[in-house]
Amino acid sequence: MPAPLRQGVDSLLEKVTLPVLKQAARTLSERYRAELRDGRLHMGEDMAVKAYLATRLPATYAAVRASLIALADARPDFHPKTLLDIGAGPGTMLWATVDAWPELEQAILVEASAAVRKVGQALASGTIAARAEWIAGDATIDLDGLKPADLVSIAYVLDEVAPASLPKLVHRLWQLTADTLLIVEPGTPAGWQRILAARQQLIEAGAHILAPCPHQAPCPLKPPDWCHFSRRVARSRLHRLVKEADVPWEDEKFIYLAASRQPTPVRPARVLAPPKGGSGKVVLKLCQPDGSAGEQLLSKRDGDVFKIARRADWGDTLG
Ligand SMILES: C[S@@+](CC[C@H](N)C(=O)[O-])C[C@H]1O[C@@H](n2cnc3c(N)ncnc32)[C@H](O)[C@@H]1O
Repeated sequence: MPAPLRQGVDSLLEKVTLPVLKQAARTLSERYRAELRDGRLHMGEDMAVKAYLATRLPATYAAVRASLIALADARPDFHPKTLLDIGAGPGTMLWATVDAWPELEQAILVEASAAVRKVGQALASGTIAARAEWIAGDATIDLDGLKPADLVSIAYVLDEVAPASLPKLVHRLWQLTADTLLIVEPGTPAGWQRILAARQQLIEAGAHILAPCPHQAPCPLKPPDWCHFSRRVARSRLHRLVKEADVPWEDEKFIYLAASRQPTPVRPARVLAPPKGGSGKVVLKLCQPDGSAGEQLLSKRDGDVFKIARRADWGDTLG
């Protein structure tokens, strides 16, 4: 995470006692794992927000930032001036977008929880140059008065919305998208299914898929397989204490979809799993521009392609 964000989070967590934070983190994690939709926001209370800052923000920031890198790779000419982020939480997408495009001028952040908005505002104020406006609202009913933005985003939110409300929400997000829409979800089979449904709906609405898919064809993966990516995130000392974790890092699994109103040039194949290496050869699971997917053995005999493949990691493109 950017240093000012880390420092802001540290100072908000300074006076919190460990047992209270641990209990809040346990409750939050159980609610997320169960994908509980009981009419209450997971982060309705101040202590739940602090638990999110301590245990989830570094990972969601890493996933969101990685998704923006993939988006920017697919559209190097895209330099958003305006951002509309739905379910903004503590401002994860705002911080990641400013990191990717420091020239961002304006951000509208829609967030249902007053406790989260307060924290997001406190973290961003005085440190983020873009004009950021935090708006109270329910994404499933309150998006009508908003103006379109260059980049519209919704990260780790679809899993908190009733499945029946998702098509209308995706429709509204696309209407508000002047250029590109980014959706990020947990890298679970359920998260992938939500991304697949949104992908289908967006393609039917005329969207061009920028990433991760290098094609518009139906997804070639079949359950129990699913498309997802991973980012290794260092755990702070506090994070380790709160989660009673021995390992100083965690792997955040995520899935994303970047869809644009602009046609995209031909996109190279994308690596869908950790590469399996050997001396002078590598096996990559690839999603191909022709809409197929599968493992491919590449060796020195493949020349320049092998040179790229040898360095490629899970989530990278071969371009
Ligand atoms: C898991 S957090 C994700 C926060 C942030 N986007 C991130 O990636 O770190 C989900 C956020 O969406 C908000 N949220 C959930 N349902 C919402 C809705 N219907 N309208 C607006 N915000 C919502 C929650 O209050 C919470 O702050």
